[in-house]
Amino acid sequence: MQSNLPVSLPADTALLLQKDKQHIWHPFTQVQTAPNNVVIARGEGAYLIDTEGNRYIDAMASWWVNLHGHCHPAITKAIYKQLNTLEHALFAGFTHQPAIEYAELLLGAMGGYDKVFFSDNGSTAVEVGLKMALQYAHNLGKPKYRVIAFDNAYHGDTFGGMSVAARNAFNLPFDKLLFEVDALPLPTDANMDSVLAQLEALLSTGKVACFIFEPLIQGAGGMVCYSAAHLSRMIALCRQYECPTIADEVMTGFGRTGTTFALQQLSEQPDIVCLSKGITGGYFPLGATVCRQFIYDAFINHDKMKTFFHGHSYTGNPTTIVAAIASLQLLLHPDTQIAISAICDAHKAFMETIKHHSHATNIRCVGTILAMDMTTTEQHGYLNSISETMATFFFKRGIILRPLGNVLYIMPPYCTTPEELEQIYEAIREWLEEYAKY
Ligand SMILES: Cc1ncc(COP(=O)(O)O)c(C=O)c1O
Repeated sequence: MQSNLPVSLPADTALLLQKDKQHIWHPFTQVQTAPNNVVIARGEGAYLIDTEGNRYIDAMASWWVNLHGHCHPAITKAIYKQLNTLEHALFAGFTHQPAIEYAELLLGAMGGYDKVFFSDNGSTAVEVGLKMALQYAHNLGKPKYRVIAFDNAYHGDTFGGMSVAARNAFNLPFDKLLFEVDALPLPTDANMDSVLAQLEALLSTGKVACFIFEPLIQGAGGMVCYSAAHLSRMIALCRQYECPTIADEVMTGFGRTGTTFALQQLSEQPDIVCLSKGITGGYFPLGATVCRQFIYDAFINHDKMKTFFHGHSYTGNPTTIVAAIASLQLLLHPDTQIAISAICDAHKAFMETIKHHSHATNIRCVGTILAMDMTTTEQHGYLNSISETMATFFFKRGIILRPLGNVLYIMPPYCTTPEELEQIYEAIREWLEEYAKY
């Protein structure tokens, strides 16, 4: 996050920052060159508010997690109530009402899935999905060790997640330790036949345990969109070869793409779905990996070696799960569905107004996610320094954005009002004018 905090800060904030520097190692941050962190004191609806009382529209939903705004009373109330009842309990040999209620609600909202496995975050939801698919083959007595993924993918920062992702700055130091994957290009109208042929060649070896993908849009890879129809054909081919498919909906889940789940826009449904981020409305870390009955059935046996030996200390944490229940109930409420449609429509209308702008290329929108590329002389990608310039520009206008290198995107919480959206669009227009002068 770029800070425009004044050089002389009030004593409290300065002290907090000093202690922050002294004690904390922040994620994705090169301290040598990073500006001061911004000390956030409160959250309210679409806004984050710093210790000086400055209000910022959280236009990227706090790293894509916030759905209904900060400190939503319904979620806060549910958590408070749960905290007075049961804060946590071990989840092997024991269960509880919140987990059962949520599993039922989630499976109902997804349709066609049968079991929910809880973990802690997006990376663990992916690890669980990969391990389910790999052990599924092992338990059937036909072990398979190849995994198919897409070029440019991002699936989290654990070793499994890094392995199935594109090899880039995120994982370079660990390259030698990552397992090999067969990477396919994203399908386009032009290369679809070739991608299908490559996929079939891999599947026909009989060695592929699973195919993992971010449906409709690759997030951290730069908000790269691709067709639901092409992906559906790839899933269908995998099914023909009895190869499980894994949709990583960590970013796309819970309304981001305009439907509650991106897979609802596919004509073929994946076998395993990884969920996190918006799952608790942005309150607590939680991962959920959802699968079909046939995957689960391969783990049911008198032979204990067929057990899924995976779990985390906080698996199924009830306090976290009541936040997920309240958030999903809010998401499914007609008012939220209307708000999501309004954001989708507003994005499309805004795109029209800037489509001829010479400095924004590949302007695109998938549901509530709007993105565009800035052409720069530097190599395009996450490390492109234009991202810092853009983040500072928007921050000075009271908007929090963290572009992915040269890719400017917004992913607002669904409570964002038309006026707040307009403020974001206006700042983008202003940025494009400013950028024209570079
Ligand atoms: C598609 C996808 N999968 C997995 C992850 C990892 O999630 P987390 O950061 O919660 O571990 C992310 C995070 O951005 C993601 O976008």
